[in-house]
Amino acid sequence: MEPVTDVQAQRDFMYGELDLGSFTIFSGSFINYGYWGEVEPGREITLAERTASQAELYRQVVSRLEPQAGQRFLELGSGIGVGAALIAREFDARVAGLDRSPAQLARAAETNAAALGELPDRLSYHEGSVTAIPWGDGEFDGVYAVEMLQHVDDLAAMAREAHRVLAPGGRFATATFFAPDGADTSRLPGLLETVASGVDVVRPVGEFAADLAAAGFQEVAVTPIGEHVWRQFDRWVAQTEHRDSWGRNWLGCYENGWVDYFLVTARG
Ligand SMILES: C[S@@+](CC[C@H](N)C(=O)[O-])C[C@H]1O[C@@H](n2cnc3c(N)ncnc32)[C@H](O)[C@@H]1O
Repeated sequence: MEPVTDVQAQRDFMYGELDLGSFTIFSGSFINYGYWGEVEPGREITLAERTASQAELYRQVVSRLEPQAGQRFLELGSGIGVGAALIAREFDARVAGLDRSPAQLARAAETNAAALGELPDRLSYHEGSVTAIPWGDGEFDGVYAVEMLQHVDDLAAMAREAHRVLAPGGRFATATFFAPDGADTSRLPGLLETVASGVDVVRPVGEFAADLAAAGFQEVAVTPIGEHVWRQFDRWVAQTEHRDSWGRNWLGCYENGWVDYFLVTARG
């Protein structure tokens, strides 16, 4: 496990006692900003649409693994586990979810009890860190992470571990926020509380791509998907009691070119 720094303790609190997944900015036990289709202007977004956006982000990531039935996938930062259950079902895969938070793992066991019962050999949740992955070499056909790498201080170590546990030619895919290369990120801490505290780290996406290449990954590809994320997520937050919070600043940071949401894929 990583050393317990102040920042790490804050992250653990956020996913432990605070139970971020219960906040109304999220829904359906997912904890991500979502991949959205068009939402007509002038109407409320439904709770079902908010949940569907988060499930769709999972599909967008995992479809980049070029999945085939029966393959073994590792999810990094599986949270409350509903995404891993969805992937096991929809892609006919064997999915192991990894999370460092015992509280999230307890929620995952409870929330996905039915799926765990139906898919005993295809769905499981495990405690551990993405920088010390508790599996042997070459055990997975795909490794993926949905909106979690912003919490990892040592992405180079994560990249080495992801590469190690992938079978040769296996695929890696992730989606989360990074800075566009060359972006001025100096205003972010003043606008985004989790960046100011260090809970979220917004790195240049090219640095992460270089970490993947240095770990031995090939065909590293970076695709900005912010147009599918930020505007609709902001509309959703505006409907909640968090409408006056700093969370509304994400959209402005995106529109100024200081941050974006990216899909990053690679072959092991
Ligand atoms: C924003 S949530 C995303 C959860 C899920 N992927 C989703 O989209 O619903 C991030 C999760 O990553 C976990 N996490 C953070 N740092 C981690 C680390 N170093 N190793 C494993 N899990 C970590 C947290 O405990 C949390 O459950």
